[in-house]
Amino acid sequence: MENHQLIEQFKEEFGYAENVRLFFAPGRVNLIGEHTDYNGGYVFPAALTFGTWAVASSRQDGIYRFRSLNFPGQAVECSVKEGINYKQEDDWANYPKGVLKELLELEGGVNDSAYKGADVLFYGNIPNGAGLSSSASIELVTGLALSKLAGIEVEMLELVKSGQRAENRFVGVNCGIMDQFAVGMGKEGHAIKLDCDTLEYEYVPVKIDGYKLVITNTNKRRGLADSKYNERRSECEQGLAVIQQQLPEVHCLGDVSYNEWVNVKSAIEDEVIRRRVEHVITEDDRVLQATKSLQENDLITFGELMKKSHESLRDLYEVTGFELDTLFEEAAKMDGCIGTRMTGAGFGGCNVSLVKEEAVDAFKKQVAENYTARTGLEPTFYVCEIGDGTKEILLEE
Ligand code: GLA
Repeated sequence: MENHQLIEQFKEEFGYAENVRLFFAPGRVNLIGEHTDYNGGYVFPAALTFGTWAVASSRQDGIYRFRSLNFPGQAVECSVKEGINYKQEDDWANYPKGVLKELLELEGGVNDSAYKGADVLFYGNIPNGAGLSSSASIELVTGLALSKLAGIEVEMLELVKSGQRAENRFVGVNCGIMDQFAVGMGKEGHAIKLDCDTLEYEYVPVKIDGYKLVITNTNKRRGLADSKYNERRSECEQGLAVIQQQLPEVHCLGDVSYNEWVNVKSAIEDEVIRRRVEHVITEDDRVLQATKSLQENDLITFGELMKKSHESLRDLYEVTGFELDTLFEEAAKMDGCIGTRMTGAGFGGCNVSLVKEEAVDAFKKQVAENYTARTGLEPTFYVCEIGDGTKEILLEE
């Protein structure tokens, strides 16, 4: 949708369009490094060019009104004075509400706050529930829009952390920092090598001349994903506790080198927990190897590491499932596809593949045919471009 159309829509929803500002936050795709973020390991995500837009205008009465073109007919209102509370029926609007609450806390409470209310209209083109971070996207676009309208310069890294806290504390999903970081800090043409323990990061150019990143959506809804996600987190914590008995200086799995792991792994008696930790530690190494191979223009090695990552998520971490594994197998078979893996939390959602440009059409056609024949579901493809992180879009006067 064009900028002016978004503003017309705002006028239709709220009855005026004076003093509106426009903000954007992308979705993200993770190229490698899955389920490592909450273990203090490395990830390698990139921002996409699709995302969430917010048209916003200030109010002076302490009321925030949120609407979304994606969920027509649902207008959610909250008031700073009365307090911001989670309500199940507010559905998607709990994300902006949670972020508002975090922003208020950054300001040390609500008394005499700069947060004086706003009308906000959202529009997003990230498929929901596909593992491309539509929730982090709405969190970050809200964070930037509401802080700017309040006249407060909050650093992007603070908005990133506020988004994660909103998700952890308000919405109740115990996610790591990767999604919000990629959505907030993304940079066109680059992926971010992020150390999730120290938050040190490096932009790495994604130079893949002659190839395309193709995202394929399984179109399987991610049922039970949140409880399984939390279960994996707690399995990692149990593994860490055993390792700490041997290596007391270690404070997260990201601290453990592969060689240390080889020496301590027999101390973990539970075979399932041992596999979970083995995934995290080898995946962490794969991110380092993959970023290095990309920097050396060795796309073949990069692609091989993507496949190894998927196999580890399938066999050791067990978060893939029939649909993602079918896509992986069908994609890996195709001529011109040199790397492929699931991306995001798993249990459905999307796959990402590295495909020779001239093979993309055949890839889409054949993978769709084979995937549908085996699963009964129709996949969706997005040939993706890497875009910028969260920003204000300046409107012409
Ligand atoms: C989800 C979470 C992230 C990360 C990934 C798995 O996207 O929100 O924090 O844990 O799963 O890598």
